Amino acid sequence: MNSNSDLQIAGDILEVQHLLQPAREHPSTVSEFVGLARTIAADRAQWEQLVRYDTTTRWYHRLRTGPGYEVWLLSWVPGQGSGLHDHGLSCGVLTVLEGRLTERTERATRALDSGAQRVFAPGYAHEVVNDSLEPAVSLHIYYPGLTEMPMHAAQCAPAAVDVVPA
Ligand SMILES: [Fe+2]
Repeated sequence: MNSNSDLQIAGDILEVQHLLQPAREHPSTVSEFVGLARTIAADRAQWEQLVRYDTTTRWYHRLRTGPGYEVWLLSWVPGQGSGLHDHGLSCGVLTVLEGRLTERTERATRALDSGAQRVFAPGYAHEVVNDSLEPAVSLHIYYPGLTEMPMHAAQCAPAAVDVVPA
């Protein structure tokens, strides 16, 4: 820092738009992916009419894609769950949009209410289940896009691979 400088900024720097970095069209950092999920969560018109509830199988819909990432919308009727799985080489952001989900890992069980977010790294293993009495909706962002979702048997190595977002 040059202590001889008499440069000062007058006023609010955030009002000097041409000095700010332009907003990126696509997220590339963890905080930007979390922010994207929050933005989508807040804009119900983007996803609300797309949600379906299927009692025979977990319902999912790819909401959008971008460079290297995918955004999935999932619904969970009471009793539906993912089984214990990881996400291969993908990182992820899970956001509960509606209802309550429960996440189970080797270490903890967490109740995830509407608005809750979980960020996970490649190899993170969890099970997500709707053990409430109401349907739930969640948003899942994967970076890179999900190409495998190895299922785990309890206390065993990864088993069969089935790519269903969760
Ligand atoms: Fe998952």
